[in-house]
Amino acid sequence: MQSEVLINEDRIRERVLQLAAQIDCDYDDKIPILVGVLKGSFIFLSDLVRLLKIKHQVDFLTVASYDGGLTSTGIVRLVSDLSVNIEGRHVLIVEDIIDTGLTTDYILKNLQTRNPASLEFVVLLNKQECRKIDVPVKYSGFEIPDQFVVGYGLDYNQYYRNLPYIARL
Ligand code: IMP
Ligand code: MG
Repeated sequence: MQSEVLINEDRIRERVLQLAAQIDCDYDDKIPILVGVLKGSFIFLSDLVRLLKIKHQVDFLTVASYDGGLTSTGIVRLVSDLSVNIEGRHVLIVEDIIDTGLTTDYILKNLQTRNPASLEFVVLLNKQECRKIDVPVKYSGFEIPDQFVVGYGLDYNQYYRNLPYIARL
């Protein structure tokens, strides 16, 4: 693969630590449930939760909007749902990247119908210039340009998720 490092391991580590500290502070008196959006968030989520000091729970859901290529199909579907009831819970959705915003918007609308006490997003990477729908993101790791990236959980055709850094494809 031809790739170029965009965000190295040290920068990721430092930023994830800052995000964890912010979440610790904001959820100090709460027991949030962190929901990892599979598969892309699995590495980010596992690093983030190991840096959190607050009591919390973890759950997952799987959505799909890509058919393996470089661009979203725009049609989001729920592949697997949460395993717990989130009514009255403080929910923090953990996403790898926001591109068009369609996936995040779908998750927001779907989970809001279940009446959580609060619902926020923590996103490692934000491609702001690609946004088609405005979505409220409380915690954002890095702003990146409109380029396809892989590594640290993000894939191309299910490959490269294991790279310890974020690279341009
Ligand atoms: P959105 O619905 O367009 O915001 O795209 C969200 C999903 O598309 C993300 O959760 C990723 O799974 C995937 N995605 C978007 N951009 C990239 C990228 O640059 N690399 C890998 N996956 C991406
Ligand atoms: Mg994703």
